[in-house]
Order: sequence, then structure tokens, then C-alpha cells
Amino acid sequence: MVDITPLLAFRWSPRAFDPDAELTGGEAASLLEAARWAPSAGNAQPWRFALGHRHDETWKRILVSLPAHDQQWARDAAVLVLGAHAGGDPERAAYDLGQAIAHLVVQATALGLHAHQLTDFDRAALRADLDLPAEVRPLTVTAVGRLGDPFRLPERLRWHETALRRRRPAHTLLLG
Ligand SMILES: Cc1cc2nc3c(=O)[nH]c(=O)nc-3n(C[C@H](O)[C@H](O)[C@H](O)COP(=O)(O)O)c2cc1C
Repeated sequence: MVDITPLLAFRWSPRAFDPDAELTGGEAASLLEAARWAPSAGNAQPWRFALGHRHDETWKRILVSLPAHDQQWARDAAVLVLGAHAGGDPERAAYDLGQAIAHLVVQATALGLHAHQLTDFDRAALRADLDLPAEVRPLTVTAVGRLGDPFRLPERLRWHETALRRRRPAHTLLLG
């Protein structure tokens, strides 16, 4: 396997988060700072975030917008981050938001944290619950926390947690 930086090599998306671990204010701020410094088309910075710490109102509202099978594990995440984009061309803004979230996830890895992104959530309900302005388009939720014990997960989720991670071979990615 070709070497990549350990920050990327060690990143993965767990479902077993430590239900007792919290993020410090400094850690949460550093995640947002990493996202803030992402590049964007025309430096438009179309990303917007709502960050909830476990059991605060924002966290609860984000959690209940997730499907029940994802709530099962996401409720153990210390922080839930809603990623949204605003203004400009929605496709370009979504690309920029994705890049900002990638920065956030790499920063989380650098802090010894783990992150698991989701796009399957009730966007309309969450928009209403968080009273988001009309021009803000919710797109993604990222659960962040410290790694927990996979044996606490229900069996179906534990299988996912321990399954081999796979990727397409590099040569199949190249066009032409
Ligand atoms: C945009 C995006 C949406 C995702 N949506 C979900 C989701 O709805 N539910 C889920 O369990 N995982 C979700 N994931 C996590 C992916 O399934 C995971 O990243 C992928 O299987 C690769 O595994 P790895 O992150 O451990 O390398 C999502 C990831 C991304 C980047």
C-alpha cells in the first residue's frame, strides 16, 4: 500500500463512541477553526455550522433528526455538528462545505478524536427545530467524540464496527 500521512491513514468512522467523554471548549473551537480555514471557490466560505454538546438543546435537536438506527450510536457522541451551506450556487457551496468538513475531521483525528459523518437526516425538521434562516441549506451531520467500546454496541452495529474497510483499487479511479 502506498503511504499516506498518518492523520488520513488512521481516520475511520466509528459507531462506538465513549458515552462519558466530553470535548473541551478548546477542542470544539479547534474543530471549527480547522473548518474555517478550508479553501472555497472565490473564498465565499458558504459553510455554516450548529454545534451541540451532549445533552444541550442543539445536540438533542440534531440527534432526533437522525434515523432511529443512527440515533442508537450517535447518542454517545460528545458533539454533533450540523453542516449547512448558504448563498451562491448550491452545488459549488455543497462542494465547499464538504471540504470544510474534511478539514474538521482531519483536525479531530489530530486531537485523538473520531468523527462519523451522516447525510441521512430529516433536514426539514431540523431546519424548523433550529429556526434556521431560509437561505441556509442543511446538508450533513458529523458526530465527534472519543472512541468507545464496540462490545457495548448492538450486534448488527458491532458487525459494521469490526468489518474490514474496503476501497476501490487506485487504477479503477483513473479515467481515460
Ligand atoms: C457524505 C457522507 C455521508 C455519510 N452518511 C452516512 C450515514 O447516513 N450513515 C452512516 O452510518 N454512515 C454514513 N457515512 C459514513 C460512511 O459510510 C463511511 O465514511 C464509509 O463507509 C467509509 O468508511 P470510513 O469512514 O470508516 O473509511 C457517511 C459519510 C459521508 C462522507
